[in-house]
Amino acid sequence: MTELDPGVVVRPLTHADLPVLDRFERELFGAGAWSRASLAEELAGPGRWYVGGQDAATGELIGYAGLWFDEIDAQVMTIGTTAGHQRRGVGGALLAALLGRAREVGAAHVYLEVRVDNDPALRLYERAGFVRMGRRRGYYQPEDVDAWTMSLALDAPGTDDEWMSS
Ligand SMILES: CC(C)(COP(=O)(O)OP(=O)(O)OC[C@H]1O[C@@H](n2cnc3c(N)ncnc32)[C@H](O)[C@@H]1OP(=O)(O)O)[C@@H](O)C(=O)NCCC(=O)NCCS
Repeated sequence: MTELDPGVVVRPLTHADLPVLDRFERELFGAGAWSRASLAEELAGPGRWYVGGQDAATGELIGYAGLWFDEIDAQVMTIGTTAGHQRRGVGGALLAALLGRAREVGAAHVYLEVRVDNDPALRLYERAGFVRMGRRRGYYQPEDVDAWTMSLALDAPGTDDEWMSS
């Protein structure tokens, strides 16, 4: 477990966290939420690395994030902070943990998709150095909303490292 600046302890997620994650998914992603079965598959899937952010004071799980490494590149699978705890650095801490892991396993790039209308997430990712690559029409269903595909080259100088220490 690692304790980070905004009073968050980042720890691995396990099968026992599924009921809480299931609730978070519906709260944060609505119609686009993953089912509990999909979440369970993700937690146990090959190359996956899922972590939770626990409030250091209360022990309550307040965020979660997941990465997939395919032996070449990594993909941010999800990231979320519960409504009452947003905008205090939890998302940034979780993203920093994912990027740290991506570096550790030797990923060349990190990719992700994000809804084109998701300003908080876009700002979070751009602050970490991600750049927009292209737009995928109707990527999010059933809402039928486009996605930006974004990438971060981990060997590029002056990207997420500066951001993590700012
Ligand atoms: C995106 C999300 C994970 C950010 O989590 P967070 O814990 O609030 O993130 P942080 O506090 O670390 O904020 C990091 C940066 O994100 C941006 N940000 C966060 N909330 C924002 C908001 N409501 N409006 C605009 N920018 C916002 C800011 O740039 C912020 O940095 P700043 O506070 O220094 O300006 C959170 O809003 C969330 O869970 N959203 C719903 C789920 C989701 O859309 N996930 C992303 C899927 S691609």
